[in-house]
Amino acid sequence: MNNSLVTVAYIAASALFILSLAGLSNQETARKGNLFGIIGMAIALLATALNGNVNIAGYATLAAMIVPGALIGATLASRVAMTSMPELVAILHSFVGLAAVLVGIGNYLGEEASLTGAEATIHQIEIYLGVFIGAVTFAGSVVAFAKLRELIGSKPLMLPGRHLLNIGFLVGTAVLGVQFMGADTPAGLQPLLIMTAIACLLGLHLVAAIGGADMPVVISMLNSYSGWAAAAAGFMLNNDLLIITGALVGSSGAILSYIMCRAMNRSFISVILGGFGTGQTSGPAKAIEGEATSTTVDDTVELLKNARSVIIAPGYGMAVAQAQHAVADITRILRDRGVTVRFGIHPVAGRLPGHMNVLLAEASVPYDIVLEMDEINEDFEKTDVVLVIGANDTVNPSALEDPNSPIAGMPVLEVWNAKQTIVMKRSMASGYAGVDNPLFYKDNTLMLFGDARKNVDAIRAALVQEDAAAPALVAA
Ligand code: TAP
Repeated sequence: MNNSLVTVAYIAASALFILSLAGLSNQETARKGNLFGIIGMAIALLATALNGNVNIAGYATLAAMIVPGALIGATLASRVAMTSMPELVAILHSFVGLAAVLVGIGNYLGEEASLTGAEATIHQIEIYLGVFIGAVTFAGSVVAFAKLRELIGSKPLMLPGRHLLNIGFLVGTAVLGVQFMGADTPAGLQPLLIMTAIACLLGLHLVAAIGGADMPVVISMLNSYSGWAAAAAGFMLNNDLLIITGALVGSSGAILSYIMCRAMNRSFISVILGGFGTGQTSGPAKAIEGEATSTTVDDTVELLKNARSVIIAPGYGMAVAQAQHAVADITRILRDRGVTVRFGIHPVAGRLPGHMNVLLAEASVPYDIVLEMDEINEDFEKTDVVLVIGANDTVNPSALEDPNSPIAGMPVLEVWNAKQTIVMKRSMASGYAGVDNPLFYKDNTLMLFGDARKNVDAIRAALVQEDAAAPALVAA
């Protein structure tokens, strides 16, 4: 493939990636956005493989790497449950980081002798920075994966002097950088490898210091880092498309992290710096007093029957239970009876951005009744019944009422302002952030214990039966 053809292919792929991002920003166009991304990536792969200027050891070796890799990736991705998607994303970010580290080290050892003076210096800086970002991304993503898979606890790791430790890692990186820049190949390999180890420790420590409730921001931040690591690899390999793609991922990840921080009332800088400036509370979190009142499916149906307005607040438990289709049916039945039914979606409900929106779209819930937290929070006061389905942290009043709570300051769905709130979950256990929830003990809260799917199915069955027995319930 000649150079101009490769350039045209790269421009086409870049345009498709931009269209893909634009498409993914809206539920109605997300499928199209995905398709653009797939076509762009196919073009990018083909053009890179066929690029005559790229030193490919041999197509047989390339095929021996790509074919098994693609097969393993496709098999694992097709088997992954929606609830495990964030873990998959986290581990994929770690691959990008590792790739940047390996490309950097390989590039350093096989350095082009043709580069001299300023060009050679810039190339060395690219390698050093690329390996640094890659190693932080790799190690941080592995910790994020372990936290999401609950292989390690979600509580923040609070080492004494942790900020000084981070500063020490950065100073060490800078000192080794000076050594690396002053050394000839391959003598610079030693400071490069030591820095890689330090950057891995920094990545581990930064992510380990972030608590459960802030994990969404960490994931999108690592997404951003993986983009910058890819862009750095693009500079090292002199590949424009990789630079553009990396910059797109890096900047969109950074924007997403910023939006999430704003939604959760967290400081962007603080989260990036491993929780810098957080953790100073004036005492322990408030003890929760009172008793929770449990209810039954029949009583829940009775409440729904008499309600004029209902809001459903779904959370991670709805995803685990795969209750979205039954929830969609209940929504349809109630709406057919003339009840106003809407959904209140917290920005970090579930385990990945837009998790609830994806599930509800899959179950064909109309988009116009699925509202963001800010759009619906004031309406709870005027609502008869709120169904909280497998949500916990995102409906926890202590975020607003207890300044010593680990989730203090995070905006939540104010479901307790409704006339009646019904919480569906299996036990009194806490949510992802490990924080007790006073909502369960409020006078107007009823707990419907059990698997969300089982309970929602039972509610649907009772409503269907009623409709069959008294078709007049259904509005004409
Ligand atoms: P969570 O606070 O995680 O609570 C989910 C609740 O669902 C649990 O308390 C659990 O209680 C219940 N549950 C689990 N399986 C169930 C089942 N089969 N049937 C019924 N209930 C079930 O959920 P949330 O309110 O959606 O909040 C999300 C949390 O995850 C936040 O802390 C957020 O920061 C964090 N997080 C979010 C993301 C993104 S990007 N969204 C990424 C990482 C972390 P029982 O065990 O008692 O049933």
